[in-house]
Amino acid sequence: MQQALRSATRRLTAAKLHYGQGTARPVDDAAALLAHALRLTRPLGERDLPRTLSAAAEARFNDLLQRRIHERIPAVYLTQRSWFAGLPMHVDPRALVPRSPIAELIEARFSPWIDPARVRNILDVGTGGGCIAIACAVAFPRARVDAADISPEALAVARINRRLNGVQRRVRLLESNYFSALGQAHYDIIVSNPPYVGDAEYRSLPAEYAHEPSGALQSGRDGMDAVRVLLREAASHLRPEGVLIVEVGNTDVRVRREYPRLPFVWLEFARGGGGVFVLTAEQLQRA
Ligand SMILES: C[S@@+](CC[C@H](N)C(=O)[O-])C[C@H]1O[C@@H](n2cnc3c(N)ncnc32)[C@H](O)[C@@H]1O
Repeated sequence: MQQALRSATRRLTAAKLHYGQGTARPVDDAAALLAHALRLTRPLGERDLPRTLSAAAEARFNDLLQRRIHERIPAVYLTQRSWFAGLPMHVDPRALVPRSPIAELIEARFSPWIDPARVRNILDVGTGGGCIAIACAVAFPRARVDAADISPEALAVARINRRLNGVQRRVRLLESNYFSALGQAHYDIIVSNPPYVGDAEYRSLPAEYAHEPSGALQSGRDGMDAVRVLLREAASHLRPEGVLIVEVGNTDVRVRREYPRLPFVWLEFARGGGGVFVLTAEQLQRA
């Protein structure tokens, strides 16, 4: 099996694929695809390596490698399984592959940006497959979470993940254009990983991104459409002590330029990634 893993890693490396949708290196993809070919429900571990590969598993592994290399399908869309903040997530092309650095912030219960003990409710705008909303529900067992998305297809994935993680009673899924379905609700935390890719950048993305829903990535000509709505409307849905946390990736330069008066705090992450800001409700009033 070790030999199969090594030779697959060499093939993936030679194919010069793009990584960043749930896996970071050729060896990660090889291990994930091998685990899937072996029908394991957990990640491939040391104890699996001495096993021999059956002819059927070898054929399945080969087929998965072919699809990864020739169709440029992200490995997690082939395995349909990913992990977010330590939680299992079903993944399929109806929703973006979970990868937001906001996972780290959720694991820290948004501390020090808010006192976790007083968080009663959370809104996730653009929930996609629900990873952020569901991880929030697990991190805050007494809070209610609203998970809003404009895409019914993505919400179908979120429904699977809500059940997978046993949080059906506290995570409400809402088909909503930003805040449209939320009425007058107010939240302690509004968190969002909205689309933030501009037209020119979208056209230059590696082939792997074409397998993700374009509406999860593209946000107008300059990538700013979604963040503009969030900065304009979030304040009227936050409690007075509430916070807004938004991922904008490399669109951060445009955000700073367009909102010079807003005192964004840009977060750093131990596991990498960036382009995430925090603003308090009070600061947002100045937008
Ligand atoms: C970058 S994806 C993030 C998905 C998920 N939160 C994550 O972190 O993996 C952005 C999501 O925003 C949703 N979205 C795009 N426009 C929207 C809108 N006008 N209102 C609500 N959601 C929207 C997309 O359907 C997509 O699921």
